[in-house]
This record gives sequence, C-alpha cells and structure tokens, in this order.
Amino acid sequence: MTESLLVLRAPSANRVFTASAGPLAVREARWVLGAHLGAPVDVREREIAGVDYLEIRTDPQDTTPGSSGDSLRPLVAQLSSAFAVFEASDSGAGTAPAGADPAGAAPAGADTTGPEPTGPDPTGPEPNGSALPLLRPTPLPEVMRHGSELETTLRYPGKTNEQFTALLLNLAAALSSRRGGVLRGDLALLDPTCGRGTTLSRALRLGLSPTGADIDAKDIDAYRTFLTTWAKQHHLPHTQSSGRLGLRSPAGGRGAGSRWDLELAADRRAQRAGEVQKLHLLTCDTTRLAEVLPDRSVDALVADLPYGVQHGARTEGWQRSPLDLLEQAMPAWRALLRTGGGMALALNRRTAPYERVREILGSHGLTVLSSDGAFRHRVDQAIDRDVVLAVPDDHPQLDLLRALAASADEPTTPQLTTPQAAARRATPARAPSSTTGDGTSAAAATDPEATTTDPPARAEAHEPRERTRHE
Ligand SMILES: C[S@@+](CC[C@H](N)C(=O)[O-])C[C@H]1O[C@@H](n2cnc3c(N)ncnc32)[C@H](O)[C@@H]1O
Repeated sequence: MTESLLVLRAPSANRVFTASAGPLAVREARWVLGAHLGAPVDVREREIAGVDYLEIRTDPQDTTPGSSGDSLRPLVAQLSSAFAVFEASDSGAGTAPAGADPAGAAPAGADTTGPEPTGPDPTGPEPNGSALPLLRPTPLPEVMRHGSELETTLRYPGKTNEQFTALLLNLAAALSSRRGGVLRGDLALLDPTCGRGTTLSRALRLGLSPTGADIDAKDIDAYRTFLTTWAKQHHLPHTQSSGRLGLRSPAGGRGAGSRWDLELAADRRAQRAGEVQKLHLLTCDTTRLAEVLPDRSVDALVADLPYGVQHGARTEGWQRSPLDLLEQAMPAWRALLRTGGGMALALNRRTAPYERVREILGSHGLTVLSSDGAFRHRVDQAIDRDVVLAVPDDHPQLDLLRALAASADEPTTPQLTTPQAAARRATPARAPSSTTGDGTSAAAATDPEATTTDPPARAEAHEPRERTRHE
C-alpha cells in the first residue's frame, strides 16, 4: 500500500504569486526529494476539504536508501513551503458530513450549483468520493540552527521574498553531487549578487558557512550591521575581521574590493572547540570573483539577479543590463563551480528571456535543466520571474538530473476527470489572485501591512529600488 505524507503549505508572505505557489512547491519537492533519494518521487498538489496540500507518496516496499518516511522528514522540513506535515490514512477514513463536497469543500463563494460529479474525482481521497482521509500530525525534525527572525527581521525595498529564496537555495543544493552537505552543514554556497543577504541568512539558519558578494557597499554594510546586532542580541559568541580583498594573481591590477568575515558559534564551548559557522562577505564586482575565490570551490551558486526593469541600455558597473551582467559574470561563476555543482538563478523573463539565458550558459559549458517557464510566476507588472537551473556539462550525475527534470515537468495536479473538479482547480481555494486596475493583487492592495512597507509587492519591491538607483 502506498503511504502519503501531506504537507500543509505555509501561508505565503507574498500574496502576489499565491496562485503559482502550489506548482512551484511541487516542482521544488520533486527536485529536492528526487535528488536526495536518487530517483523521481511522486509529489503532487492535493486539495482536501478546501485546503491545499502537497502530497508525497512513497512505497514502503521501496528499498531506495532514504525512501522511508523517517528519512524523508529532514528533507521535507527544509522545503521552502513546509508548515505542518500529516500522515494520511485513507483506510477507515472519516466520512464527509452529509452534503459535503466529496473531493473537498468548495471554496467560499464558489459556484456549487452545477450537476454532481458523475465519475471519480482524483482530487478526492476515494474513488467513490465518499470519504476524507484521516490526517495524523507528524512532527518534523528541527533542521534550522537559528530562528526565523534571521531571515525576516531585515526589511527593505528590493529584498527577495524569504520563501522564494529558500526554494532557490534548495534547488541549487539539490543539483550538487555533494547535496548531503546541506544536512551536514558543509555544502559550499555562494550568492554572487547577495544584496542584504537573504540567501546568506537562510544558509546560516541551515548551519552552512556561505559566501556572498555584492557591488553595492551600502547593502553589504547594512547586512553586516544587522548580523552583528542579531548575534549580540542572541548571545552568540562571534568574531569579525575585515580588509582589502587579496587578489589570487597579481595580474589582476587594481584592488578587487573589500571583505568582511564573521565567525559564529552557538556558545563559548563550541567556540573553543572550533565548532563555528563562517560567513564571508565581499564587496566587489561579481565578474571579478574568480580573481579572489578559489577555483572549483562552490557546490551551490544561488543568485537573484538584478531585474533590469528600468535600465536596459547601460553597460558599466552594476548598471549593466541583466543579460550583459550574466554574460560577463559567467566565466567567473563557471570557474568557481565544482564539476558536480549546480546553480539556481532567478531572472526576470522580460529582460532575460529563457532562450538567451540558455545560450549564454551553454556557451560557458553549462547545461540548463529547467524548462522554459517551469518556475514562472508574476511578481509585479514589471517582473515576470522564472528560475533557471544549470549544471556543468560534465556533471557526474547528469543522467539522474535529466530524469528529475523530466519528472519535475509533469503536471502538478492529478488529471481532472470532471468539469466541476477542473473548475475548482481553476479557482484558488484561498487568497484569490484577482488583480486591481494597476495590476497588483487585490489581496495585497487591501492588506493593511502591504501599504506600510514596499507596495505593491511588499516583500519584493525591486522596481522602486532600481529606479532610485538609476535615476
Ligand atoms: C535582486 S537584487 C538581490 C537581492 C538579494 N537577494 C536580497 O534579498 O537582498 C540583485 C543584486 O545584484 C547586485 N548587483 C548588480 N550588479 C552587480 C555586480 N556587477 N556585481 C555584484 N553585485 C551586483 C545589486 O547590487 C543587487 O543587490
């Protein structure tokens, strides 16, 4: 008999792409679980009583290492959307109350006047549509070394949404042949356009020792100040040092920038024992990173690239267009990546079309594994975001990764057999993504908090930030 884990998705902090949250979460889980287990895993969206879950189906007879529920749990706990997990049992399940929608209660306001479904509805637990599964809460192991305040406290225009950042990091780690390092704490992670460190904070929470670089000294300073305050407030022993960036080869000419290093321990005993996390923060042009970091030293490269919403024409410094930046940074990024490493890049499809990105990466010895639009979601009027996953052409696990890419692209919902079920799917059960006249989501526009920080997409107002910079 197949066993099911049902993952209740965290309410999205960014209501703007709520409608895409389900497919994104399914694809992330297929990549992450499949990569760690070494074979595609059956993950899909499932709606039960009007609530959306991710369903992970495993076969207890499966002897693949790690495929049992117990080994899955630490991986599930790291998924960007995991909020609570249940074991589902369909046998002896509770019967839906009389008159209840067998496939799950219809969303409030949905039209329920149509004829009753005549065939089996695969969004429901039972072929006859008469029963709901029993859900038993199941605890997840604690996989985070630090609290969520590390990711959420710092707020600023241009911050990448934390949940999306976690997804990017998980995907890049999944591509690496050293992916187990994300659980052990020794996966080498680089964010080469780190801004004020959302990716680095996630990596620190996971127990990693990441490296970040950004050309904007103001961003680096702000993150440095935040981190030292946070470490003091949480009584975490730490040491810091800073200096000019040493060039690996004197041929580099002018200085490449500056560095700031932090060593962080859980307590004094750990500090004395050398059980520390290290963070390296570089203020420099990302195109020069190969001059200052060792070749083949990165397992997972995670970048939320500039969106280029305002400034396509400039070609110098950090005002390069996103495609120019990608083209100029790629030799360095490729040199830093281990043969078994992987990269996850978030890009604005309007300024960095998939085919052009694939060409650029291809010309630098990288194979793009994600398909066009696989992680596509709308951030705001100017940003139509997607994720590109790529690995070196000679990655030792290319066959496995190609199989995972194919499985990730399969439909994320069960095939729908009735018009009613299809209609329900087309209408998000909660937080509908209807848009107002200016293209922002109705939910965001009416959210009182949304107007106090960075409207319209309060967590990710990239556009205003870039405008400020380039005017
Ligand atoms: C979309 S933002 C990343 C935001 C970041 N994830 C965060 O949450 O703070 C893109 C970043 O790329 C940086 N950037 C642009 N051009 C760069 C370059 N040539 N070298 C290094 N960083 C660059 C910008 O300064 C900006 O911080």
